[in-house]
Amino acid sequence: MTGKKVLVVGSGAREHALAWKLAQSPSVHEVIVAPGNAGIAGIARCVATAADDVRGIVALARGEQVSLVVVGPEAPLVVGLVDALNEAGIAAFGPSREAARLEGSKAFAKEIMREANVPTAGFAVFDDADAAEAYVREANRPLVVKADGLCAGKGVVVAKDTDEALEAVRVMMRERIHGEAGARVVIEECLLGPEVSYHVVCDGTRYVPLAAAQDHKRLRDGDQGPNTGGMGAYSPPPVVTATIERAILSRVVEPVLATMTARGTPFRGALFVGIMIVDGAPAVLEFNVRFGDPETEVLMARWKGDVLPLFEASARGDLTGVMPSWEAPHALAVVLAAEGYPTAPTKGARIHGLDAIEDAPGVVAFHAGTRERGGAIEVAGGRVLAITAVGSSLDEAASRAYAACDRVHFEGMQLRRDIGWQARGSS
Ligand SMILES: Nc1ncnc2c1ncn2[C@@H]1O[C@H](COP(=O)(O)OP(=O)(O)O)[C@@H](O)[C@H]1O
Ligand SMILES: [Mg+2]
Repeated sequence: MTGKKVLVVGSGAREHALAWKLAQSPSVHEVIVAPGNAGIAGIARCVATAADDVRGIVALARGEQVSLVVVGPEAPLVVGLVDALNEAGIAAFGPSREAARLEGSKAFAKEIMREANVPTAGFAVFDDADAAEAYVREANRPLVVKADGLCAGKGVVVAKDTDEALEAVRVMMRERIHGEAGARVVIEECLLGPEVSYHVVCDGTRYVPLAAAQDHKRLRDGDQGPNTGGMGAYSPPPVVTATIERAILSRVVEPVLATMTARGTPFRGALFVGIMIVDGAPAVLEFNVRFGDPETEVLMARWKGDVLPLFEASARGDLTGVMPSWEAPHALAVVLAAEGYPTAPTKGARIHGLDAIEDAPGVVAFHAGTRERGGAIEVAGGRVLAITAVGSSLDEAASRAYAACDRVHFEGMQLRRDIGWQARGSS
């Protein structure tokens, strides 16, 4: 054996970044990605198995005799992909189905936070629409209404008044616009402050702190327009001071890991802590049980050297001796989105200029919704590319990323020009 085979599950820019980093590992001789995309096909072997096809992924991992499976998206984790792989004797990076409930059920996450005494917004959980509506009327202040289950980022309404909150309860619980995911809702107190994410890699009891990043959810500059899956990110955001970082680890990560272990469902894999900084202290908005997208693009771009030992040690359940390893002090990613995104993205536009940025220093174009047709790369999804650059300052990373964005073009392309505005000009 001259090297290891690794399987990455998923098809977005997050998975491109993970596969790109793994392909550079001196101990990896092949990266397989299921199902991948046109950009991933340039650095790995893509196999057309859907990410949420648990039996298909297990069969693929077994057939290819991979030494590790790295699971990108949440849906397969929540239905138990890692459990199924482990039962088949295959090591996998990611949480078990039980531990993945931290993302799969917002009510469960709140219960864990209450038990672990983690700072988070006050809340109530409802299975009954009448009771939820009575609560909203009684509260008579800004509230946040969240569908309990997975909704691909569309299950949360930050309601500015009672009518909006009532409408959110009605469509989620009575109309079931998100199906069973909205059978239960969490209603939270509305917090205000800058939002950041923090990633740690866990082995059940120990963890390796990665870094903070800041995503940009709104479609347009100045945080205007509809919510999206994320239009860009940068790392590190200066709003996360060393004091805040310590508080995230000691008041959130450590008690949550301890509580999950005490319940007999230790958490392994990447834990994404969604945070709002309220009066100088972190409050948790949510947990994700996998890497963020586009945060992963900037984290992988910043990472120094081999990332395989981190994922292997987490999967094995022993992170002893694994340290975070940063090379680039700053990174920034700009998402190029399709015409009509996020409501009705148009597919099929041909993408020009990708070859012109291949050799741009410090820049990498991670693909999300792309496909190949007749030797050309075209748009195949809402978020199309995440143009990512590193730099010795955030401004350098930003100017590299935007210079590259200016060379890429497709019909109807949308991007934000202000990614990193919170910190540009200051580093
Ligand atoms: N308690 C809260 N107060 C204010 N805003 C919130 C609150 N909870 C969530 N939000 C806003 O709603 C967004 C989505 O909520 P989140 O819990 O992250 O769910 P998801 O990412 O699954 O849609 C957050 O990024 C944040 O902007
Ligand atoms: Mg979120």
